[in-house]
Formats: sequence, structure tokens, C-alpha cells
Amino acid sequence: MNIKIGASILAADFAYLDREIQRIEKAGVDFFHIDIMDGHFIPNITIGPGVLEDIRKLSKLPLDVHLMIEQPFTWVDRFITAGADMLTLHIETINPSAYLKCVRRLRPKGIKFGVSLNPNTPLKRVETLLNMVDLVLVMTVSPGFGGQKFIARVLPKIKALRKIYKGDIAVDGGINNLTARRVVKAGANILSCGTYIFRSAYPKEAIRRLRCRE
Ligand code: DX5
Ligand code: ZN
Repeated sequence: MNIKIGASILAADFAYLDREIQRIEKAGVDFFHIDIMDGHFIPNITIGPGVLEDIRKLSKLPLDVHLMIEQPFTWVDRFITAGADMLTLHIETINPSAYLKCVRRLRPKGIKFGVSLNPNTPLKRVETLLNMVDLVLVMTVSPGFGGQKFIARVLPKIKALRKIYKGDIAVDGGINNLTARRVVKAGANILSCGTYIFRSAYPKEAIRRLRCRE
């Protein structure tokens, strides 16, 4: 499977967001990953649909919106209007039948839907959703902050998921040139990555390394 790389803007310098986004787009990422946190589901707050709307003006690349918020269904339409191409909701925050309803309603608009699970959440929680999502995002850190250490005990979960699921498997948190190889070997094909790309002096080289399988 082709490896896709998303740059998580949480690691960008928000004082110069326009420059930062253009710099990393030029370096060759496939999409931008936008972390939305509400201070309830996790202990941090980031940005809302207003800022996403501005980000939309800065890049033509797909915007993958990672909703780490309580009551995500209240917000999905706002984020789509603001420019999201893809929405990933946490299984810990949703009930599967409401999710199905939401996907059925909004997929005709061309929006892609993912479901995410925290490091401690077992795979069986998402099993009933596998035939209706565009991707499964397996968190490789506890959501909340950039720059955390990769949690290696999540690797068997990625392997087990790959055995039962042929679609896209994304990972998010603590991804660098070394952990990228481990998650790809386990079965992941989409890597969202903040610190390693944005804080690199040579982001183009960092992205090349993330794609490297050997
Ligand atoms: C964590 C976020 C991640 C984070 C990744 O809660 O969902 O997207 O920004 O950042 P790094 O790559 O720095 O771990
Ligand atoms: Zn994220």
C-alpha cells in the first residue's frame, strides 16, 4: 500500500501559520492534519472552525480534521463548512448508530470519515464500524499534546487490525523515521506527524525518511 504523510499543524509556530503551512506543503506532505481539542475529552484546547476556515485559504491540500471533543456530532457540519475534507471522530465519544447516521448524511458531500481509538481502547470497540469508515486512526500516544513518546504497546493492535481490515490504517503521535518503520511493518499506511516534520531543519528529508520502508 502507498504510504501517505500528513503534517499535524499542532507542531507549527502559530505566530507564522501561513509561512509554516506553505513551507511544509512545499516539502511534500500529502495532507494537513488538524487537531481539534475542547478541554473536555482531553486536557487541552486548540482551535475551532473559524481558524480552520483561515487555514483552508492557505493550502489546497486535503484537510484531515481530528476531532478530540465531546459531542462531536454537534460540530461536524461547522467543520465541513469551514473546509474539512475528512473528519475523524473518537469511538470513545460516539455511539455507533448515530455515527452511521452522520456518515450516511454527509458522505454524499464527498466528505471522508474515520474512526479513532485511544491507546487503551480495545479494537473490538470499532469492529462494527469497519465496513462503513474510510479509515481507522490508531492513536500511538494519548491524545492531547504534540511531542509525546510513541507507545510501542499499540503495535499489536495495528497488526490485529490489519488482519481484519483492508482499508486505510492511520497512526498519530510520536511518529519519526524510526517509529514510522515499525508502524508500517505492523500494517499502517497513513502517518500523521507533527514534531518530526515541523521541527526538522530539512522537512523534505524528514518526509522522505518517513516514506522509506527499509
Ligand atoms: C495528539 C495529536 C497529534 C499530535 C502529533 O493529541 O492528535 O496529531 O499533534 O504530534 P507529534 O507528531 O508531535 O506526536
Ligand atoms: Zn491528531
